[in-house]
Amino acid sequence: MMREINNICCIGAGYVGGPTMAVIAKHCENIQVNVVDIDEERINKWNDPDTSKIPIYEPGLREIIELTRGKNLHFSTDLKKHISKADMIFISVNTPTKTRGRGAGKASDLKWVEASARQISEFAKGNTIIVEKSTLPVKTAETIKEILNSQKSIDFENNFKSFEVLSNPEFLAEGTAINDLENPDRVLIGGENDNAINLLVEIYLNWVEKEKIITTNLWSSELSKLTANAFLAQRVSSINSISALCESTGADINEVSKAIGMDKRIGNLFLKAGPGFGGSCFKKDILNLVYICEHYGLKEVSNYWEQVLKINEWQQKRIIQKVLEKLFGTITGKKLAILGFSFKANTNDTRESPAIKICEELLIEGAKLNIFDPKVTYSQIKSCIDSNIIQTDNYNEFMCFSKAETIQKAVEGVDGIIAITDWEDFSKINWEELSKLVRKPCWIFDTRSIINKIEAEKNNFNIWQLGS
Ligand code: NAD
Ligand code: UGA
Repeated sequence: MMREINNICCIGAGYVGGPTMAVIAKHCENIQVNVVDIDEERINKWNDPDTSKIPIYEPGLREIIELTRGKNLHFSTDLKKHISKADMIFISVNTPTKTRGRGAGKASDLKWVEASARQISEFAKGNTIIVEKSTLPVKTAETIKEILNSQKSIDFENNFKSFEVLSNPEFLAEGTAINDLENPDRVLIGGENDNAINLLVEIYLNWVEKEKIITTNLWSSELSKLTANAFLAQRVSSINSISALCESTGADINEVSKAIGMDKRIGNLFLKAGPGFGGSCFKKDILNLVYICEHYGLKEVSNYWEQVLKINEWQQKRIIQKVLEKLFGTITGKKLAILGFSFKANTNDTRESPAIKICEELLIEGAKLNIFDPKVTYSQIKSCIDSNIIQTDNYNEFMCFSKAETIQKAVEGVDGIIAITDWEDFSKINWEELSKLVRKPCWIFDTRSIINKIEAEKNNFNIWQLGS
């Protein structure tokens, strides 16, 4: 008989663990869901009675937390307690690129995954299903199994301990995480044990149609996640490469995107040119794919995917070059406004945001920056920018403005305004009002085609839009 899952533990209360478990708790009222993390400050924020203080800004998340927290969703730092009670444990910890040792700069650092596996191995009891939620290199399940089985096989209640490992990669995108979790294109479950697979399928069946839940072997599941991210990033680099060609030829990237996207074989999503992809995963996952290909001696394949990253870096350099060119070749001592610092709209996440590199380069050139973002705080922005750049030169200073302080303050006396994030509010800016505040001639650099060009030009702004 198939046993029941009554208690779930998720290790990692981050951008994936938090929202994913909130949605599971919402749809599975009979399951107790405990999200655990070693980061006490993060857990305290998840538990803050004021739900506007939860650590992740994600549309729709707050409402689900209000519905489930304290009922069947709990956040805690007590790993031992919640691991030992769990029938199923999700590993949802960070897997960044290694910074040292073999594979540094490319391979994923699995030290947090390994630590999780060791904790599970020690504290779990009875038969436990382990679900890889983190994005992992193909074949990681083998390592996890080895660690899990390295401890003695009797738990502290004298029961036999055993583990089944499943791969269940997450495909949510930030900013749309709740919708992606509620209505996924597919749920992918890789594994070797039908019983364990079915238990996880049963959980998703509470809200996902059966046809959308696909099962594969472990390795296909792990590799599909890396491949999906590589394909998505490749589309962004492809359209960005063509944006440069548009600028040289008089073609318009938005018209080209529309024209090619109407071909069903190409599809119309992920064809928006911009300042390059950011976010915590595309770069690290492609680097990881490159590393794996090199490991298996597939140099041509690794070169192919590496090019996607090179175009991404080049796109950011191109934008900086354009700013310098239009502002008479120098920005030393000039004030510039930066609109948007998160890596995309509707998130407060700044990991790998194109804004970081662009701001750093502008600061190195001697500009003073007024950075406006509706959701990212001053301290977060400061922590992203290389402290050596801020401190080494008198000219290098920046100020940050949040929603409370308005865009008007950020543009006072500036020579240029650079729109980097696609926050919807930027499309509604009152350019007549702003034209009275800037220093003329003032350039707008619109890297997202988000600015109302006609209105801006009507109010005597010069405007450069990427890809046109
Ligand atoms: P994150 O950094 O926001 O969260 C990870 C959390 O794990 C942190 O709070 C950290 O303190 C905690 N942690 C690390 N080691 C721990 C341990 N041993 N015990 C307890 N807690 C521990 O990361 P994230 O963005 O949620 O990503 C997690 C994984 O999901 C990564 O592999 C990522 O590639 C993948 N992923 C991320 C996204 C996304 O949109 N962010 C989407 C799909 C997949
Ligand atoms: C991405 C994938 O979309 C998710 O499926 C995946 O689960 C996730 O990575 C992950 O593994 O972490 P995310 O990085 O949150 O999600 O956001 P995306 O919407 O994919 O955007 C990534 C970057 O590409 C952003 O900087 C965005 O502005 C940029 N982008 C996206 C474009 O420049 N143009 C586009 O057309 C689409």
